[in-house]
Amino acid sequence: MKIGFLTCPGTMPGSPVRRDDAFEHDLQVDAIRPALAARSGTLHEIDWRAPLEAFDGCQLVLVGTPWDYWDFEQEFLDKLDALEGAGVAVCNPPALVRWNSRKTYLRDLAERGAATIPTLWVEQPTPADIENAFDQFGCDSIVAKRQVGAGAEGQSIHRKGEVPADWTMQHPAMIQPYLPQIASEGEYSFLFIDGEFSHALVKRPAAGDYRVQSLYGGSEEAITPDAGDLAAAKAIVDALPHGTPLYARIDMVRSADGLLLMEAELIEPYLYPLQGPELGPRLAEAIARRIGN
Ligand SMILES: Nc1ncnc2c1ncn2[C@@H]1O[C@H](COP(=O)(O)OP(=O)(O)O)[C@@H](O)[C@H]1O
Ligand SMILES: [Mg+2]
Repeated sequence: MKIGFLTCPGTMPGSPVRRDDAFEHDLQVDAIRPALAARSGTLHEIDWRAPLEAFDGCQLVLVGTPWDYWDFEQEFLDKLDALEGAGVAVCNPPALVRWNSRKTYLRDLAERGAATIPTLWVEQPTPADIENAFDQFGCDSIVAKRQVGAGAEGQSIHRKGEVPADWTMQHPAMIQPYLPQIASEGEYSFLFIDGEFSHALVKRPAAGDYRVQSLYGGSEEAITPDAGDLAAAKAIVDALPHGTPLYARIDMVRSADGLLLMEAELIEPYLYPLQGPELGPRLAEAIARRIGN
């Protein structure tokens, strides 16, 4: 088995411009590579911008850590299509990636009955939209984020009556009530491989922050979810379109109404191998199954 793993300059080993969180790339690769090797497979880190010839002989390509694709969305989606067109199995598949690349997928899932965070969708947001959100949600803190983005980039938090008159966001936005449980309890991640639960963890922000990402000092702890929480996460996986994904990270936060979906990460999620030591073998087994090995 020859398996590709997409990278970008920010994550590629040896790159002079590696991101501060590129260690997550290394942990992920270190989990998958030996598990594939145990099945006589090899894992090849390849920049997603590399020409198609760089993927010669790969039966399957993991989308991996292309942690800059959101600024080059069309080019990236075209490359995934080209790989698929060349007969390479792309995981997760381009159709699912395309659907998941715009956070409006959350609206689709809500329409299918998934428990999501209430959201206003605004193409060209203004301070008036923020003020409107306080009234709509009956809350006094809101979060504004990009509809296409990751790593909390371009995100801002606002308190009622304190929105700067010149506030703008140069991108289509989504506006949500701020859920204080993010700071008091944390954000949960549930990892699924081929639709089967693998492991779970809670991510907590650094003191004084509300973003759980490692770049902002967040920390993680493995947990054993209770049956109710696990069922809430599994219900999201079961509501996904385009077939069972090879990997899914379901990020949820508790509200007064139970766990709500923050994001279904189906493109380039960090899969938290340290909190789930079985991740590598599970993924290798699912990959082998998919390519008929
Ligand atoms: N409605 C919200 N209430 C509280 N915290 C939020 C909310 N939305 C986002 N956050 C915080 O910001 C982080 C990034 O938001 P998220 O929707 O996960 O986007 P992404 O991870 O793609 O940047 C979350 O992990 C969480 O820490
Ligand atoms: Mg997130």
